[in-house]
Amino acid sequence: MKAQAKKDFRVHEFIEKRWSPRAYSDKPVSQGKINSLFEAARWAASSRNGQPWRFIYATKENKETYDKIFKVMVEWNQSWAKTAPLLILTIAKTKDEKGRPLGHSMYDLGLALGNLTTQATSEGIFLHHMGGIDPQIARELFDIPENYEAITMIAAGYPGDIANIPADIAAGEYAIQERNPQSEFVFSNKFGE
Ligand SMILES: Cc1cc2nc3c(=O)[nH]c(=O)nc-3n(C[C@H](O)[C@H](O)[C@H](O)COP(=O)(O)O)c2cc1C
Repeated sequence: MKAQAKKDFRVHEFIEKRWSPRAYSDKPVSQGKINSLFEAARWAASSRNGQPWRFIYATKENKETYDKIFKVMVEWNQSWAKTAPLLILTIAKTKDEKGRPLGHSMYDLGLALGNLTTQATSEGIFLHHMGGIDPQIARELFDIPENYEAITMIAAGYPGDIANIPADIAAGEYAIQERNPQSEFVFSNKFGE
């Protein structure tokens, strides 16, 4: 397992332990755990309680849908995500029924995914979020309506053997996580200070 980066301040263990693997074990994620992941997402805050998140998921047991979701990823992500036992396509409602933009839907989806990610860590499940997808392919394969948009893909499961993913990707798999110090993004006087 990956060595953890030293945190500057105390955080919850589910935040401490989280990282984004690219190699997964064959161990399936049970339906009960999948239900809990989406339940955590369900209870996120959202603008006007609009709940603009949508998800399409498949485990490897549901090969037909898994293969369809798989096609939405760019090739580079496909090269490692093939080991993931669970794939989740995330979708946001970007416009209301009158075609007006829902300006906070990305924020809302992000909050739901934060919940989902933390729930996953609490269950020993690790996720890898991906922006490298083709939303148009998702729209065609899954009949996504015009006022919704595929935003990201998530690979999920239990960390596995890095020998099962391409060697150049495996090489960085256990690199220590890095982050900017708080002084770069937390201000108390004006922007930047
Ligand atoms: C919105 C978003 C898009 C991302 N897109 C990709 C991607 O397409 N492919 C990939 O391998 N990782 C992707 N990542 C994973 C990030 O590279 C990763 O979270 C970051 O390097 C920090 O590593 P950590 O999650 O292990 O702390 C994405 C993460 C987020 C949140």
